Amino acid sequence: MNREILKAIALLKASENIAIPTETVYGLAANAYDEIAIKKIFETKGRPLFNPLIVHIHSIDYLDKVANSIPPKAQVLAEHFWPGSLTLVLPKNHNIPDLVTAGKATVAVRVPNHPLTLELLHNLDFPLVAPSANPFGSISPTTAQHVSDYFQERIPLILDGGACQNGIESTIIGFEGDDPILYRLGALSLDEIESVIGKVKIKTTNEISPEAPGMLLKHYAPSTETIIVDAIENFIQNNQTKNIGTLTFYKAVSSENVVHQEIVSPKKNYKEAAAELYKALHRLDKMNLSLIVVERFPNESLGQSINDRLERATKK
Ligand code: TXA
Ligand code: MG
Repeated sequence: MNREILKAIALLKASENIAIPTETVYGLAANAYDEIAIKKIFETKGRPLFNPLIVHIHSIDYLDKVANSIPPKAQVLAEHFWPGSLTLVLPKNHNIPDLVTAGKATVAVRVPNHPLTLELLHNLDFPLVAPSANPFGSISPTTAQHVSDYFQERIPLILDGGACQNGIESTIIGFEGDDPILYRLGALSLDEIESVIGKVKIKTTNEISPEAPGMLLKHYAPSTETIIVDAIENFIQNNQTKNIGTLTFYKAVSSENVVHQEIVSPKKNYKEAAAELYKALHRLDKMNLSLIVVERFPNESLGQSINDRLERATKK
């Protein structure tokens, strides 16, 4: 076995947190049955305890140790999309500590699609809880370097699995009875999910009692002032601010006031755009710009999930 994985196993067994790669974003992982280790995650991230964590398992075979009374459509989705960027919210099994679920009767669970983390999970006799490995509210990490920029001194190991292929968080689906409800848009598009189980209801949430606090209105935010517009060229021509950075889907912007441009997919490919999104925001945020201007994506396919993140990142 890979030496880094052996180290990871030893640290997790000793109640430590480590960073793990997934195909969505890097996670800050702990033994899902170990409350001491789980508390460290909340402390390191500055995450409020009301915000529940996602449990990561190695395969669908482990699901019944984590969740009970699985609705038929949940079973279909799990078989279809795992390993992959889909999190299911299901009635929780008593094995799962209340700290994981913030006292809720449900648990969020997924099988991540990354070879290193799958190998790690296969060699553990417990699942892993793993929120994104960033301080609460800031841009999620999609490379080992992003994690190390945030937490270098605070975590004993970052398993480097390269850049995350999907680049935004998993899509979260819950159930009311047997009816599927979308809690968070994400790396798996709604179209893909609906093509398997039919129409999914979209649940609007509020900030006081969030069903999924990934739905908190302000989240994923750069520290530089960032705004979102519909027509960036127009906005830039009519704005006097100097030292601007831009983020667009595939178009370039021409203005002397723009000193750095991030074009996330010149080929106009949504998957590539999602994979590049947070990397581009991290770069822009390091450049001492006066303003970051991002252009809204077309509201289709993964453009919908990308817009969701951009809206939250730019919320005042
Ligand atoms: O792609 C991902 O999901 C990444 C990687 C590391 O797997 N993880 C991630 O975790 O995004 P985090 O903690 O940043 O977001 C977890 C989301 C939160 O919005 C939380 O509220 C929601 O999952 N969640 C967890 N348990 C829930 C539950 N029982 N009911 C509703 N939402 C839940
Ligand atoms: Mg997060």
